[in-house]
Amino acid sequence: MSHTIVIFGASGDLTGRKLVPALCELCRKRRLPESTRIVGFSRTPLTHEAWRDRLAASTERRLGSPFDRSVWDAFAPSLFYHPGDVEKAGDFASLADFLDELEGRSGATRVYYLATAPQFYQPAVKHLGLAGLPREGDWPRRIVVEKPFGADLATARQLNAVLHREFHERQVYRIDHYLGKETVQNLLVFRFANAIFEPIWNRNYVGHVEITAAESETVGHRGAYYDSAGVLRDMFQNHLLQLLALSAMEAPGRFEAGAIRDEKVKVLRAVRPMRPEDVARDTLRGQYAGYREETGVAPESRTGTFAAVKLSIDNWRWQGVPFFLRSGKAMSCPSTQIVIQFRLPPLMLFESGPRSPHEANRLVIQIQPAEGIQLHFQTKVPDAGMQLRLTDLSFRFQEKFARAMPEAYQRLLLDVMQGDASLFARSDEVELAWGIVDPISSVWEGAATPPLLAYDVGGWGPPESTDWIRGQGHEWFDTCPVLA
Ligand code: BG6
Repeated sequence: MSHTIVIFGASGDLTGRKLVPALCELCRKRRLPESTRIVGFSRTPLTHEAWRDRLAASTERRLGSPFDRSVWDAFAPSLFYHPGDVEKAGDFASLADFLDELEGRSGATRVYYLATAPQFYQPAVKHLGLAGLPREGDWPRRIVVEKPFGADLATARQLNAVLHREFHERQVYRIDHYLGKETVQNLLVFRFANAIFEPIWNRNYVGHVEITAAESETVGHRGAYYDSAGVLRDMFQNHLLQLLALSAMEAPGRFEAGAIRDEKVKVLRAVRPMRPEDVARDTLRGQYAGYREETGVAPESRTGTFAAVKLSIDNWRWQGVPFFLRSGKAMSCPSTQIVIQFRLPPLMLFESGPRSPHEANRLVIQIQPAEGIQLHFQTKVPDAGMQLRLTDLSFRFQEKFARAMPEAYQRLLLDVMQGDASLFARSDEVELAWGIVDPISSVWEGAATPPLLAYDVGGWGPPESTDWIRGQGHEWFDTCPVLA
């Protein structure tokens, strides 16, 4: 099988930092199908050689030492460059000729990868269409769309409509790199390849679910983008809601893209829509000290760099179980985790036993940085009467498997080449996710905007967030990665 991956935005950050290093790693592992060609397309005038040299440097920086030059030398001849402007129809006609010539009579599966700035997605799709590039003959044609997929429900719908004018939905792969993470995929394995967790994975046993994506980094050089997006669009609409869907969904009938996505969609549909009056009660927005001095950020910016949101899922499994989602920049440590906080036993026999909900059983699914799972349970302290203490059982990927955890893009790129859309978002999924986030953004960005809470760099967000969750009888699990 021959493959051609055409990257639009070839001189951009994503190509150098993620896509090409991932493809080079696949080549090193001998997973990249043999006749794979990667064609870069962007405005900068470069020769094939000059593009390869640039990418050698960025890949070396990314993969770190020791950078295996012999792997790069074997991989580099599959890289080609074709200068062009996504806003010029004529450049797509010449791209089409170039691809035909490159692939020869044998042809190839083609993947068009939109790694440009988002404002160029629509012209790129339109011009692909005008040049006849989406048309499938003997070989499949697919398109990958990077995030952000729109900036709200209306723009996401519009982008879907533009895509659907030129491509069938089955040809469209919307990236959420969280789905390429091993630990995120393991969530499905943990839940559905084991029989012992599912019977307690519901409102009868679970008190609340917490999904945290904390980052210690500030917005850094992405100030201009971030200031227009904010934490809800940057982290909630995509990554956090994907984690919620995977944590809350029913078992699909088959392990297959359509069935998995159907179940995720059902969860998103069951999320209770937030009315404006709910937003003040069920959400918190914060901004870290010093954010307004970041390059590209407006001096009076009211963009949230931290958010905590309580969502309810109106279905039989989850009725009454709050899902607390939070994410922030400039927090105490990088830690992405899903915490399933179980209820207390119905009757406590032991005087020193747990009384408050956060001393009950807890399952911590640590997505990153150190990947693993930890189960918290009560144990008798030896030689201390009937004193109890919360102890744990831990599983670390690193300990059990010698292999390094791959970058998410490796798996995702291979899946697109093979036509497996299980780890990509469908059009209805993306629109439903915007439908959950939009009512919050419109209150936050509207006239009666709720307070913007300040927080210090290096903590757990605004102190009000602790009081907010406590006021509802729950507790954040504020522990820097439980697994080192
Ligand atoms: C991106 C966001 O989608 O995800 C970034 O735009 C964020 O702001 C990043 O830092 C987090 O990804 P990861 O894989 O580092 O958790």
